[in-house]
Order: sequence, then structure tokens, then C-alpha cells
Amino acid sequence: MSSHGDPIPMTSSKSGPLSGTANVPGDKSISHRSLILGALSVGETRVSGLLEGQDVLDTGRAMQAFGADVINNGNGDWSVHGVGVGGFAEPDQVIDCGNSGTGVRLIMGAMATSPISATFTGDASLNGRPMGRITDPLALFGTQACGRQGGQLPMTLIGAADPVPVRYTVPMPSAQVKSAVLLAGLNAPGETVVIEKEATRDHTERMLAGFGAKLSIETSDEDRIITLTGQPELTPQTIVVPRDPSSAAFPVCAALIVEGSDVLVPNIGLNPTRAGLFTTLREMGANLTYENEREEGGEPVADLRAKFSPDMQGIDVPPDRAASMIDEYPILSVVASFARGKTYMAGVKELRVKESDRIDAMAVGLRANGVKVDETEDSWTVHGEGPGSVAGGGTCATHLDHRIAMSFMCLGMATAKPVKIDDGGAIATSFPIFEGLMSELGAAIRRDNR
Ligand code: S3P
Repeated sequence: MSSHGDPIPMTSSKSGPLSGTANVPGDKSISHRSLILGALSVGETRVSGLLEGQDVLDTGRAMQAFGADVINNGNGDWSVHGVGVGGFAEPDQVIDCGNSGTGVRLIMGAMATSPISATFTGDASLNGRPMGRITDPLALFGTQACGRQGGQLPMTLIGAADPVPVRYTVPMPSAQVKSAVLLAGLNAPGETVVIEKEATRDHTERMLAGFGAKLSIETSDEDRIITLTGQPELTPQTIVVPRDPSSAAFPVCAALIVEGSDVLVPNIGLNPTRAGLFTTLREMGANLTYENEREEGGEPVADLRAKFSPDMQGIDVPPDRAASMIDEYPILSVVASFARGKTYMAGVKELRVKESDRIDAMAVGLRANGVKVDETEDSWTVHGEGPGSVAGGGTCATHLDHRIAMSFMCLGMATAKPVKIDDGGAIATSFPIFEGLMSELGAAIRRDNR
């Protein structure tokens, strides 16, 4: 089953050179946060370039259920009329976050220190994912949670009526956990301190500061300590959402493996907490250049130009880079299949608890298409044999995971025989224009008649 309907089987076939400009959608992480922080401000936040993927739309609907007004003004422009920190109303319906771990985890944090209850659910993928990583720190504020065995959704949270601030060391590299604690800390009196051992994407910190919260960050070799002063009045903002580097990864990587390609992907944020894939590809020898490098809204931005790269080599991807490219390992494993030699990816246990077990999903699908892959619990190795070496011809299970679906679609553009996926429905969660955009570049992808 697709996340929101019948399965959509798809086929990707050897494609002619990919060429042209790929205008990918807005950043998913920043889009979720724009709606949630807008809802926690008093007054109107304007957002342009919002990702109108299913995940973000589900977060928008949830913010409405908590009392904010979320209005689509058309052309990617949205308004959020917020209710302020501590102003969430109790929803009178179950909050369905669909496929989105980011949505549900951030929203749980945002409501956890208000005296209201809410029940959360999602699709089969989300309801199988661990929520204890969120409810454990929220319990320190005084929030109660009652879910299924193993701490899974559906789950009811009873917000803390008299929250206390917390000091919490995040036990795994997770921006979602960090963000849930910070958002909960907004409505606790005093200082909430979050410590992370590995730096993860920092959009919540940057945006909280932008909305006027008092927040300080100390970084040392050992950790990153974020201190937030609770109960601020957040000021509504005008937000221009940058384009998503995680979505840019697909046209960029497809261009690297499809013979003769030359693709421009403009306006991509290169925040160092997100840009690990592009560094890795360049180390592998990819013909990937940054054009027109500049700063926009305090973030480094560039236009990416990716050209067919027949001479890429496998590398060891440093484990300390994992957090900055955690969503990009599936598509990296596709590129690695066309590089020469081994690409070793270590320190990536978190991949096993994403929308799917991404190591397993990619390993099984790549093997079905003739690629040798080894795996351990927290690492995997792809054995590449260079351009033209991958047979294809396999059908891949996507497990309701958008990034798995798009990765195998890109694989099929460069294999000898077509690659099929059982269901491309989840692609709409993060990259609803993927099929049209890739087809316009010259990709031979299609939906199959059932
Ligand atoms: C995200 C954090 C990451 C990432 C997800 C988006 C975010 O998840 O995989 O797609 O917006 O905070 P984890 O926090 O579980 O690593």
C-alpha cells in the first residue's frame, strides 16, 4: 500500500543524456519548522517556497487542529496565524502525521508542555518507528505518554500542566529528538539545555533565534550545548524556504551516472549540517561544481552543476559525516554502484529506523539488480564496477519510503535492463514533482498499468 492510496508500480529505463535545469522543491525540514514555529508565534508568519509534499501538508493540518490558522495563498505562499507559546488548544480529533517522523516528533515536542492531550497516528511505516526516543526526554518535563508496546504509535500524550525545564544529552545523532526537546522547552520556565555529541542539522536553533527566542550555543570538540530560555514571546516571521539539498541529491546523482548528462540544480542550501553528500561525491571524483556561491538568509547557497562522471572511485565515507548526509545514503549507494571499487559507509545505525530499514531496503534491491552489497548492523559496503556494469532487471520493494523509491528510479536510468519498484506512492511525501521534473530532464520513467 502506498501511504495515501493504492500502490503505484513504476519502471525506470536506460535514459538518454539528462540535461537542463532542475528546480527542486523547498526544504522539508525547514518547511515543517516554518509551520510549527509560525503556530507558536502570535500573529501572521508568511512562508514562501513551502514544500507542498504530503508530509508538510499533514503538519499544516495538525497545526490547525491545535488552533492555528494555516492558509494556502497559492504558488507556494502560505500564512500561519499562530496562537503563541503555550497557546495550543486540545485537538478534537486524532492527529494523523501520515509518513512523517519529523512531523510527529516535532509536534509532540511542541505540545508536550501545554495542559492538553493529543493522540497521534500515522501510516504503517510511521507506526512502526521508535517514539521512545521522544517520549523519554519529554517525560522529564512531566509529559505522560501511552502508546503501543515498544513505544510505537498510535500514542496519546498528556502535556505537562506544570512543566520543569530539563537538561538532556541526546543519546543518538538525531535532529528530531534535539528539536522535540527544544520545542518542549519553549513552554517550560527557566533554561532547557540540550547536549548533542554529534552535530545534527541546526535548522531548529537557527529558526528559533530568528523567531526571537533566547538561545545560546557552545561548541567544543566533545559536544554542542544548546541553552534555551523558556516562555519567550515568539515574533512572526517572513520565511523564504530554500530548496532542499536532499531532493537536489536525486537529479544530481542521476546526472553523474547517466552517460552524457549535464544538469543544473539552482539555489541549493549548502548548510554544512546538510551538505555531506556533495562533499562525498566530489571526493569520489564526481564532476560536481558549485556555481554562483553566495549567502542567502544567513545560509551558504550555490547552483549545483552535475555532469556524467565515468571515473568515480569508491571511498570510505567518514562516520563523523553521517549526520550531515543521513537521508542521502540510499542515493549514494546507487552512485557507488557505478564507481570503481568499494564504497564503505560506517556509523549509520540510524538508517535502520528511518521510513524503512534503509540499509536492508537498498541492499536487497541493489542485489536484485546485480550489485554486490555487504552489511553489518551499522555499516554497509557497495562494490562498484564502473559505468555500464550494473545489469538491472530487478523489482525493488520500497516499504513506503520515498527515498528508496526515488533511489531505485535513478538506478534504472543507467542500468542495462529496466528497474521496477513496487510502489512510488511515497515519493509525494517529499518530492511531489519528481516524475515530471526528471522526465523533463530526459529520464525514461513511467507508471506501470496494473
Ligand atoms: C530531520 C532529521 C533527520 C532526517 C529527517 C529530517 C529533521 O531525522 O532523517 O529526514 O528535519 O529534523 P533524525 O533526527 O531521526 O536523524
